[in-house]
Amino acid sequence: MRGFLVLSLIAAMVPAAARAAPSGPLPLLPMPASVEVGAGRFVVAGAAISVTDDGGKEAGSRLRDLVARSGGPALSFSARGAIRFRRDAGIKGAEAYRLVVTPAGATISAASDAGLYYGAETLWQLIASSPDGRIPAVTIADAPAFGWRGVMLDSARHFQPVSYVEQLIDRMAMAKLNTLHWHLSDDQGWRIEIDRYPRLTGIGGCRQEAGAAGTDPATGKPVRYCGYYTKAEIRAVVAYARAHHVTIVPEIDMPGHATAMVAAYPALASIPNPPKTPSNQWGVLPNLLDPDDATLGFVDNMLDEVMALFPGRYIHIGGDEAVKDQWKANPAIQAQIKRLGLKDENALQGWFMARLGDYLDKHGRRMIGWDEILEGQVPGDATVMSWHGIDGAITAARSGHDAILAPAPIFYLDNRQSDSPGEPPGRGAIIDWQKLYGFDPAPTELTADQRRHLLGLQVNLWTEHVRTTDYADRMIWPRAAILAELAWRNPAKDWPDFSARLVAAMTRWQHMGLRYDKAPLDVEARFSGSDDALTVALRQPAAIGTFRYTTDGSAPSPRSPAYQQPLSLSPGTPLMAQAFAGDVALGEPQRWLAAPELLRTRSASEMELCSDAIPLRLEDDGPTDGVRKIHWADIMHPCWIWRAAPLDGVTRLTATVGRQPFNFAIGDDIKKVVFEQPTTPAGELKVRRDGCDGTVIATVPLAAATDTSGDATVSGVIPPQHGAHDLCMTFAQTGPDPFWVLDRLTLGR
Ligand code: ACM
Repeated sequence: MRGFLVLSLIAAMVPAAARAAPSGPLPLLPMPASVEVGAGRFVVAGAAISVTDDGGKEAGSRLRDLVARSGGPALSFSARGAIRFRRDAGIKGAEAYRLVVTPAGATISAASDAGLYYGAETLWQLIASSPDGRIPAVTIADAPAFGWRGVMLDSARHFQPVSYVEQLIDRMAMAKLNTLHWHLSDDQGWRIEIDRYPRLTGIGGCRQEAGAAGTDPATGKPVRYCGYYTKAEIRAVVAYARAHHVTIVPEIDMPGHATAMVAAYPALASIPNPPKTPSNQWGVLPNLLDPDDATLGFVDNMLDEVMALFPGRYIHIGGDEAVKDQWKANPAIQAQIKRLGLKDENALQGWFMARLGDYLDKHGRRMIGWDEILEGQVPGDATVMSWHGIDGAITAARSGHDAILAPAPIFYLDNRQSDSPGEPPGRGAIIDWQKLYGFDPAPTELTADQRRHLLGLQVNLWTEHVRTTDYADRMIWPRAAILAELAWRNPAKDWPDFSARLVAAMTRWQHMGLRYDKAPLDVEARFSGSDDALTVALRQPAAIGTFRYTTDGSAPSPRSPAYQQPLSLSPGTPLMAQAFAGDVALGEPQRWLAAPELLRTRSASEMELCSDAIPLRLEDDGPTDGVRKIHWADIMHPCWIWRAAPLDGVTRLTATVGRQPFNFAIGDDIKKVVFEQPTTPAGELKVRRDGCDGTVIATVPLAAATDTSGDATVSGVIPPQHGAHDLCMTFAQTGPDPFWVLDRLTLGR
């Protein structure tokens, strides 16, 4: 358990307290390059915005809109307004600005529209975090460390509506993020309308859902998951992004991750009979484009339409995870390798990517690809997106290529951000806020010259497990704002200062109704002790704020008792707890009713997994509409451990179990997913005592749980036991699909 940190600085930045204690950090995120706090305050209410003919109209409108949306005073435009936007050619830097606030007003100056816009964002943050409308006098001179401050959104695995993409851009702008990498094609879907090749969206835009979600229980017909962006929608999103100073970098992933493409146009495939639809498997699929002349002609035509939609300099053409089995087995492709005098399939991929890069170059664009493009010869001006840690960027910079740092797992937002059972579905590695904040974007492995090739940083949201936009928001925020801090400024690490500013940003989002992940802020309780002497320990994954609690059923407030040490509670006591940073409530209030039964029940999310191969928080495959259960399992080895389970007097158990489709493309690793053989056709839940090699104390048949699509309950008996023992739970089943998962285990007397 991590320590319960009480951050004194947090109290200083709380809006009410900040006025009394101006020594706390300014509520800005990202922190500007240079800040000097002056004397006095500027009263915003009643002020007007003044702009000049040569600039500030757009930035002024942004300021007015943001202030209104966050509950601030209505700001009008007036020639003599106290909030002034001024063009100043003397301010160097494409995104640089200066903001001077005095008791008489605020002045934002910049040479560029982007600078004026970012000045407006900073002023808005000050106003939105000063509910009395009096902002401190301050002189800010600001410019970003990196020009590429990115977020990748995968719209292929799951599709988000245009309104969501625009909302993401709006929020990126609030954090001064300026690049949206839009992953528009993959094995599971093609998402961009191409006039010349309508089957790309017609066939490539739909897949049948995996598992129970893939069949309509009423009609028995397949349930299809479809979606694509029309050209008109893309033009609207591009215009929206431009107005928010965000550049969109579209990605068409080639030659691998191409199942949707080859399903739509089988002539593009490297095998005679490619799949007829996009895949509903997650993982690395074998389907590659055939790099012949016909494919190149097709791709050129397709890229023409992509370039016509996206005016930015960069076009991302993928290049990742192209397993070469299909190329190895194809005689024509082998002949092509010989004819071109290439060494092997990797070199052929290099040749293919270089050919596409040349085509983009001829049209005034630049190619960008995942770091595998370094395995073949790529054009010198190709930019490398490093996802294999930071090694790709180091190799790229050393060989003279520009690079973007997007390292897995730390910049991969599909990883969960705490061990809370309240987290959205995702991968099991924990990328928490403090860990992400601790990332060093200036690797010491590079010389100063090589570092100049680092264009910037980017977090990536892959959406295999991110079915809804609610999940997407919670996976992206607040972590994208932390990335913004690293990419804008990367000041010396000071977690108390930063977490105070993070709370300020979350408070602004809260007022605006914008979602972010609150699970790490929620207080958790762990009950221990005996039936008549219950003890509860509180913790919170984020370790931010003070925990306050009540035992009379009332909601905790900033004046409720502060938690110092585990509490003794008599059965029947209602316990409520919430973390507070000063007066600001963090997360949601949590409630428990102290009862001895709590000692003898444990959700699988609170158990340990027996292994760490591919741990996932997996969303159930049903119901089609409505809330789906989230399970916690290692798909390579489904097995859970409940440490020191209290077994005195226990004679029976009840387990909630579920079944998931095993839709994971894991290649030969599938052979490593092995199960104990069942003795009944539906299989059994096995419970062992004292670890996974211990004595079996319960074997519970699963037949009773097979006729529901959601979770079901099964029960069994346990011979008399004494003391506390580790329990190990596994399933005996004939194969991985469907895949049994434990949701909760309750011991009974
Ligand atoms: C990647 O994660 N395959 C770029």
